[in-house]
Amino acid sequence: MSIILQHFHFHYAFFFLLLLLQLPNFGSSFTNITTDQSALLAIKSHILDPNKILQSNWSTATPVCDWIGVFCNTHRRHKRVTALDLSFKGLAGSLPSQIGNLSFLVKLDLRNNSFSGHLPEGLSKLRRLKVLNSGNNNFVGNIPAWLGSLKKLKFLGLYGCRFSGALPVSLSNLTELQYFFLHESGAIAGNIPNEYSSLRKMKYFILRSNGLAASFPPCVLNFSMLQFLDLSNNSISGHVPLDICSHLPSISGIYLSHNQLKGKIVPSNISGCSLLSELSLSFNKLEGPIPRKFGNSTSLRNLDLDFNNLMGTKEVYTDFTLLHYIQSWK
Ligand SMILES: *[C@@H]1O[C@H](CO)[C@@H](O)[C@H](O)[C@H]1NC(C)=O
Ligand SMILES: *[C@@H]1O[C@H](CO)[C@@H](O)[C@H](O)[C@H]1NC(C)=O
Ligand SMILES: *[C@@H]1O[C@H](CO)[C@@H](O)[C@H](O)[C@H]1NC(C)=O
Ligand SMILES: *[C@@H]1O[C@H](CO)[C@@H](O)[C@H](O)[C@H]1NC(C)=O
Ligand SMILES: *[C@@H]1O[C@H](CO)[C@@H](O)[C@H](O)[C@H]1NC(C)=O
Ligand SMILES: *[C@@H]1O[C@H](CO)[C@@H](O)[C@H](O)[C@H]1NC(C)=O
Ligand SMILES: *[C@@H]1O[C@H](CO)[C@@H](O)[C@H](O)[C@H]1NC(C)=O
Repeated sequence: MSIILQHFHFHYAFFFLLLLLQLPNFGSSFTNITTDQSALLAIKSHILDPNKILQSNWSTATPVCDWIGVFCNTHRRHKRVTALDLSFKGLAGSLPSQIGNLSFLVKLDLRNNSFSGHLPEGLSKLRRLKVLNSGNNNFVGNIPAWLGSLKKLKFLGLYGCRFSGALPVSLSNLTELQYFFLHESGAIAGNIPNEYSSLRKMKYFILRSNGLAASFPPCVLNFSMLQFLDLSNNSISGHVPLDICSHLPSISGIYLSHNQLKGKIVPSNISGCSLLSELSLSFNKLEGPIPRKFGNSTSLRNLDLDFNNLMGTKEVYTDFTLLHYIQSWK
């Protein structure tokens, strides 16, 4: 009996061991580092590399994990490519769909090149991706709806490209998202979908200089961890909700310059923003007196109210440094 049991247990243990070995590869069965190598070689042969950075370096004579910009996991016995950093390499052309074969990729950095065309839909297969930065390239087209399937994303950088159209509702599935950078990305129009209320972990929500035309997006009030909100240089109209700070206890910078905001500024509009250090409301249609105090916003350092119809002088704020809007996000 005991022999049978032992035998039985052994079989089970063996079965589970097999299962454990297989599980991490589930969905990408029968792939290995060779799959990653051919995906990278497909990228290399598809893009333009005028500075010849990849030309001799990405050579089959050396291990993939030693290639420039390629990073592999170190803890697993079977090495796979987990990060690809092609930033600042003067690369151009479009990206091939084979990039979607890098199925263990966690971080993809394409910043500051001249990549063009659409973001390849193959990227939607990279379900482990936590960081995707395609900023400062020439990507065109709509913000792809399939980005909503990259559910582990924490950082999504789509800034400084040539995207157009509306924000896809599907991004509301990115509930782990903390950093969303979409500034200066051409002609993103319409409103911010109310479905984005689900993005509860958002810390940086940066959509400066697009074509957003709507009232102040109410979904932002659900971003209870928000630190920076930049909607400046769009066409946001109407009033800022009176109770913005009671919803955003961690907010440190609010940038709403160059919009169509109306109404008076009363201290209660931003009272309770105890960590607010920068508030920029210049180039709007605000009117009435400049309030002497902003409730409990004792951290306020930079306040920009220029170019409104406000009465009074900025000199009332002897305790603030009046600086103009800080233009750059890293
Ligand atoms: C990867 O798998 C293929 C078969 O799918 C095999 O021919 C190749 O030798 C493997 N490569 C490595 C590095 O294990
Ligand atoms: C490729 O570049 C990496 C990082 O700069 C370097 O360590 C490696 O030696 C290079 N390999 C070849 C074959 O040039
Ligand atoms: C790599 O991607 C291409 C195109 O997306 C696909 O046809 C091919 O089967 C993939 N190869 C592997 C080994 O997964
Ligand atoms: C990155 O690209 C942007 C836009 O093309 C450019 O303004 C910026 O200077 C670049 N940064 C660096 C460090 O090259
Ligand atoms: C506002 O955005 C437009 C592009 O949408 C840009 O051309 C313009 O320079 C920006 N203005 C400011 C003040 O940032
Ligand atoms: C501040 O709140 C008051 C009361 O709700 C509102 O009338 C006013 O328009 C708000 N100010 C701004 C700049 O939105
Ligand atoms: C300042 O904070 C205190 C305590 O949090 C609160 O009772 C008070 O109403 C606040 N004052 C203003 C003007 O918001």
